[in-house]
Amino acid sequence: MKVLNFGSLNYDFVYDVDHIVQPGETLDSLNMETFFGGKGLNQSIAMARAGVHVYHAGLVGEDGSAFYELCRENGVDTTYLSQIDGKSGHAIIQVNKDAQNCIILYGGSNRRVTKEFVDQVLADFQEGDILMLQNEINCLDYIIDQAYEKHMTIILNPSPFDSALDQCDLKKISVFLLNEVEGKQISGHEDPEKILETMQEQFPDAKIVLTLGENGVVYADKERRIQQGIFKVKAVDTTAAGDTFTGYFVAALAKGLPMEETLRLCSKASAIAVSRKGASPSIPKMEEVEHTEL
Ligand code: RIB
Repeated sequence: MKVLNFGSLNYDFVYDVDHIVQPGETLDSLNMETFFGGKGLNQSIAMARAGVHVYHAGLVGEDGSAFYELCRENGVDTTYLSQIDGKSGHAIIQVNKDAQNCIILYGGSNRRVTKEFVDQVLADFQEGDILMLQNEINCLDYIIDQAYEKHMTIILNPSPFDSALDQCDLKKISVFLLNEVEGKQISGHEDPEKILETMQEQFPDAKIVLTLGENGVVYADKERRIQQGIFKVKAVDTTAAGDTFTGYFVAALAKGLPMEETLRLCSKASAIAVSRKGASPSIPKMEEVEHTEL
């Protein structure tokens, strides 16, 4: 069984600010740093740091050679990473004093995926292989259709949620990993219980992992519900906390870990990520997750 993550890669320009800039306001930042990010890349790095061999499929631009280096350093397989003309994707991220962020994305090469490229990548994967997807690349609907034809296990993190997801046949998804905001966008409800109920009606065969911020996470499938609380840490930067959770979840699934242990591991890994700055640099290795007392 192989693990493929077809997703975005971004340069993250991170600005520390007193508060998130308001309409019409010009705001001086307190500090600025550049990190590697992108939901796709962060999740691949989390999978690799959790000890799983992951193939990252995606596109970087002319300025994107550094992504290859980063993937190699982290053990992310670059067989299906391709460099094209034009700019790589980037994100402009404000982080306020409460460690909350807001993000503007520039898709760049992430938005230039072609059906030919998808076919080329998926040709090497088959029934039972895991495919991880987020919503920062184009062609998502096509990727889902093709992977479903091949009977791959499709895991979707519908983030950021936008109208591109309306084009996708979400009935083909095996596992949803989402937060309350995305849950509301899919189900029309705010109450977590209602989100789960509605999604289970819409997608009866899917497994659902709903993260609830301070209230932890709940896992639901046809037979059971499992809850896991958060590990309390001093929050420094929440960027990539969700990606860390998702990457660790996929790794645990690939390793066949029991769901209770999986949720505990994911929650601990994402708590560690919240306690430090940046997207990909904040993601812990499995060793650290196992040995850190929280
Ligand atoms: O989830 C965090 C990521 O979202 C950042 O790394 C940024 O690149 C955006 O894609």
